[in-house]
Amino acid sequence: MLFSVISLFPQMFEQVFNLSILKRAQEKKLVEIRLINLRDFTLDKYKTVDDTPYGGGVGMLLKIDVVDKAISFAKAHTPDKSLTILLDPQGVTLSQTLCRKLSQNQHIILLCGHYEGVDARVYDLVDLRLSIGNFILTGGEIPAMAVVDGITRLIPGVLPQDALTTETFTDNKYEFPQYTRPAKYNNMTVPPVLLSGNHALISKWRRRLSKKISR
Ligand SMILES: C[S@@+](CC[C@H](N)C(=O)[O-])C[C@H]1O[C@@H](n2cnc3c(N)ncnc32)[C@H](O)[C@@H]1O
Repeated sequence: MLFSVISLFPQMFEQVFNLSILKRAQEKKLVEIRLINLRDFTLDKYKTVDDTPYGGGVGMLLKIDVVDKAISFAKAHTPDKSLTILLDPQGVTLSQTLCRKLSQNQHIILLCGHYEGVDARVYDLVDLRLSIGNFILTGGEIPAMAVVDGITRLIPGVLPQDALTTETFTDNKYEFPQYTRPAKYNNMTVPPVLLSGNHALISKWRRRLSKKISR
């Protein structure tokens, strides 16, 4: 799967995309992430990416002509059908169900707004406006990281087969609580069943706890 991330600040992604599971997914060639600098698509010598809103107001808006060129560039990179997403606090809210659905795509283009946002005509250039929750961040970069991470870990082969089966939000359930060594820390202990070595009992306990927490 290919992610093309269009941003004014591609350097923000370098650490996040080159660590842990995202790094391994790219090494295994299960995922490719391309960072596209919006400023490379400006049309004037000052490299202008934004302008003031018509009618007045605070802040600057990303220009539609620059955004359009960047999206066309991203689309041209691969013959695969692409889905273009604008990170947008007014969009549909990301969920695990939506991550699963999005993980079926071959190519996802993520457009990160910044400043006051984007010229509203950009909405017509994208397939989906996506929010990561009801709060406002400075730019779409952190939301784009969340989207890439949330989708990548669902791509077959990225995580071990059974890592996702009991995970929270799978089958509308929350995961059971888990513990590791030491078995006793200060006055906090681990439920004795987990130390029993009886796998049937442990599975039963985990199913019960998962149901209880989900309720
Ligand atoms: C400061 S915000 C613009 C907010 C906009 N003026 C409004 O009131 O709806 C700048 C950019 O950050 C991104 N952004 C901020 N919060 C977000 C969220 N909760 N989910 C997705 N993207 C978000 C979007 O790309 C947005 O264009």
